Amino acid sequence: MIIGILKEPEGENRVAILPEGAKSLADLGVESILVEDQAGMRAFASNVAYETAGATISNRADILTTADLIIGIHRPEANELKSVKKGATLLAVFQPLGDAENVIAWRDSGYTIFSMDMVPRTTRAQSMDILSSQATVAGYKAVLMAAGNLPTFFPMLMTAAGTIIPAKVLILGAGVAGLQAIATARKLGAVVEAFDVRTAVKEEVESLGAKFVEVEGATDDKAAGGYAVEQTEEYKKKQAQAIQEHAIKSDVVICTAQIPGRKAPVLITEDTLNSMKPGTVIIDLAASTGGNCALSKNEQIVDVNGVKIFGYSNLPSDMPADASKMFTKNVINFTKLIIKDGQLDLNFEDDIVAGTCITHNKEIYNERVKSMIAN
Ligand code: NAI
Repeated sequence: MIIGILKEPEGENRVAILPEGAKSLADLGVESILVEDQAGMRAFASNVAYETAGATISNRADILTTADLIIGIHRPEANELKSVKKGATLLAVFQPLGDAENVIAWRDSGYTIFSMDMVPRTTRAQSMDILSSQATVAGYKAVLMAAGNLPTFFPMLMTAAGTIIPAKVLILGAGVAGLQAIATARKLGAVVEAFDVRTAVKEEVESLGAKFVEVEGATDDKAAGGYAVEQTEEYKKKQAQAIQEHAIKSDVVICTAQIPGRKAPVLITEDTLNSMKPGTVIIDLAASTGGNCALSKNEQIVDVNGVKIFGYSNLPSDMPADASKMFTKNVINFTKLIIKDGQLDLNFEDDIVAGTCITHNKEIYNERVKSMIAN
């Protein structure tokens, strides 16, 4: 079997597989590993390092037409799929939820598609979970970016030039990114509050030294596998009021609230923005799905009366070495499930293999994607 590792598009600094990962793939007994020229350059991995690990530097066209397993972070462009070798397997972040048109095209193409963002959120799959590893980077980086742009200190300082009060940080959404943001902001000495619709996270929030903002009456989410669900209008009203009260007293707001496959919930309304202090920094990690902040623009900075909103939804790309290292480890752990004796060996009895598989043999495998297409 030939494995191909793609270079990511312009603006993405990470690479799916670092040289150490190429070495692990070689150890699985595959025939050869082709790496697109300069694939690792922006993540500080040279062509020479890949060659030393046993890979061969190649070009994109050759990889697409000859590799049996093609690995990337961003999925190949739709027009590139035509040149991919017949029957090949592709592994990347395909984001199939909410994208029925492409899912149907992938199914009909006959390729086997594994989408790393669909790895089940189970204990056994934790070491393959790219959503968690990359959210960890994003949560950390969001706080550093906020600190770098804040006109005041994060920690309390008692100096001969006076006492500095600590920054107040509000974290919206306490999933993986939110919890990492809490931990990082606390380490920098800020006073941290966090809000999430899932009250199950209250304990985790408090154990990291933050205060949990409570809003009563959230919709039961027990059946959603740990994810948030859409809330009632009444709850949303109460929530908006509570968030406004806390946001206007905050110096930094980190937005991480998402609902898989849906538009992100708007938690900071225009009215709230207009009531916030000039100098406040908002980092909106949900900007690519619409944002938690009413006026966020993806990959842009918006200034609303001195309140700066950074709509940065791909912060892992700003820390490409470690983000790629974690991504590599996740993918290698997954490939160990699907490669045996150097050949692809798919066991769909395995919930991780079946859950991550979007299409195979012109059929849709992932249950959530399947029901999305059926409805
Ligand atoms: P996510 O990125 O889908 O969402 C981030 C956070 O936003 C979530 O905590 C969610 O509850 C919250 N949120 C959604 N709508 C909201 C609203 N209207 N207001 C406030 N907050 C809102 O979440 P992530 O980080 O991907 O984690 C999702 C779940 O998966 C969590 O329960 C997490 O504990 C679980 N998980 C399980 C793993 C495992 O067992 N292997 C690994 C990682 C996460």
